[in-house]
Amino acid sequence: MMKNVIFIAPPSAGKGTVSGYLVKNYHYKHLSTGDLLREEIASGSRFGKELDEIISKGNLVSDEVMIELVQSKLKSFNSHEPFILDGFPRTLIQAKKLDEMLDSLGITNTIAVYLELDYEIALQRVLGRVSCPKCKKSYNIYFDEAKPKNGNVCDDCHIELVKRTDDNEETFSTRFHSYLDNASSILDYYRNHNMLTVVDASKNIDSVVNDVVDMIKEAKE
Ligand code: AP5
Repeated sequence: MMKNVIFIAPPSAGKGTVSGYLVKNYHYKHLSTGDLLREEIASGSRFGKELDEIISKGNLVSDEVMIELVQSKLKSFNSHEPFILDGFPRTLIQAKKLDEMLDSLGITNTIAVYLELDYEIALQRVLGRVSCPKCKKSYNIYFDEAKPKNGNVCDDCHIELVKRTDDNEETFSTRFHSYLDNASSILDYYRNHNMLTVVDASKNIDSVVNDVVDMIKEAKE
């Protein structure tokens, strides 16, 4: 069976893009905390409005909220299907809590994949990103390999692509710096647990996807 994957990455490194490939080709379950939060915002709920305030400024949602959200989703997964965690953990507290959750659910066979990318490339990717409000697939107006086939509509759902409210230079800078504040402790944590693999995310999409698949297949449990 394929291993469960935890992505650790700066904003816009390609977590969602690689996840889409793994879902399609290896039947992974995909848990994107960013997508879950945006769904709550789109519902127009009072809680969604609070989340919108935080996310549109590029700040992190509290550990308590995120842990509860992920815990309830993980419990609903079928233990025979591999899963991807995209966007969680983002703090050392979340990483430690995740270990407890996986232990209590008897889930092993999990690796952490670090998608390494520097600020300038990540910024270019974020500024060119448009995504489908229905299937969530991301496209990019700056990279031929990631452009939608017909104008500004989703290749699969044929509806208009939208830009995220947090995809601007100022918010990206906050997001990237809050990532940097937490990244080294999380990476050390997974390195010390012998769970960490590193992929150069600056390559083109096919290369990054192939490298991630190789890592998943080669990594020891
Ligand atoms: P989230 O949605 O997780 O945002 P993020 O981490 O900033 O990641 P992105 O979704 O921006 O990027 P991605 O890595 O998926 O890249 P993508 O594949 O789209 O979280 C949003 C917010 O929610 C956070 O800021 C925070 O406020 C909150 N939040 C979420 N989880 C939280 C948690 N655990 N704790 C606290 N708060 C939390 O690719 C990006 C673009 O590049 C696309 O256009 C794509 O087409 C293109 N692209 C991808 N790969 C390549 C490539 N190799 N070459 C060229 N282009 C590429």
